[in-house]
Amino acid sequence: MEARLLDGAALARRVRERVAGEVAELKARGVTPGLSVVLVGDDPASAVYVHHKTKDCQEVGMRGEQIRMPASTSQDELLAVVDRLNGDPAVHGILVQMPVPKQIDPAAVIARIAPEKDVDGFHPVNVGKTYIGEDSGFAPCTPAGVMVMLREAGVDLRGAEVVIIGRSNIVGKPMAALLVQPGVDATVTVCHSRTRDLAAHTRRADVIVAAIGRARFVTGDMVKPGAVVIDVGMNRIDDPTTKSGTRLVGDVDFEAVRQVASAITPVPGGVGPMTRAMLLENTVRAARRAAG
Ligand code: GUN
Repeated sequence: MEARLLDGAALARRVRERVAGEVAELKARGVTPGLSVVLVGDDPASAVYVHHKTKDCQEVGMRGEQIRMPASTSQDELLAVVDRLNGDPAVHGILVQMPVPKQIDPAAVIARIAPEKDVDGFHPVNVGKTYIGEDSGFAPCTPAGVMVMLREAGVDLRGAEVVIIGRSNIVGKPMAALLVQPGVDATVTVCHSRTRDLAAHTRRADVIVAAIGRARFVTGDMVKPGAVVIDVGMNRIDDPTTKSGTRLVGDVDFEAVRQVASAITPVPGGVGPMTRAMLLENTVRAARRAAG
């Protein structure tokens, strides 16, 4: 039997509708939630992501501002912009698009963002709050979106074996933190490039979260029949049959794995739209907290 498709685009639409309602309530109280997205340099993929993020804001009635800075920007110049945004009461969320050019230390930039405006959930204060299950902070958008998808899909995580492939600070590590929280109660294994016999781990898993950044890395023989497979990957590969000559694929070999799994997220249309929706949710939350 083919796996059920977990439609992230449809779920993200529902989240956006709820956020739009919350934005309208805040506006009625005189507060317009605002997100400022800073892009340093002119990487075309980053420019597309940043455009999406600000457009999403505008579609739910928020203020979405793009701040473009040249690739030659110094760390001090970027920190000065962060300081200005930290002090601007009309700005509730700040996001500096990663990666930044090599003369800039990303950790220094993240640490400079006021934690209460860090809607990415990357600041050490928010990382800590995510780890201790303190919901006055912000969890990073991708793992937060995956949690909503799993909940909405009715996946029973209590005592389930979850294998995460990838140990990034943005996805793998915070994903593990959210899944082991009391009340969620999953048993989590975090695998990575140095893991011995990766397939032995994945074949045991009730749920696989693939976040390695390698196209179609998870093959059908790595998946236990009936497992739930969440594909966080976004890899652009050559495909001469398309107009652009490229195509977006995930970290999972979708056609093979859908024959084995019970549920699977597509790429595109799975985790990606949920990540964008959670950014809106974090921003409206930041505005609500600022409004008191
Ligand atoms: N670059 C790729 N994904 C992200 C993200 O979620 N946040 C930021 N700030 N940069 C990114």
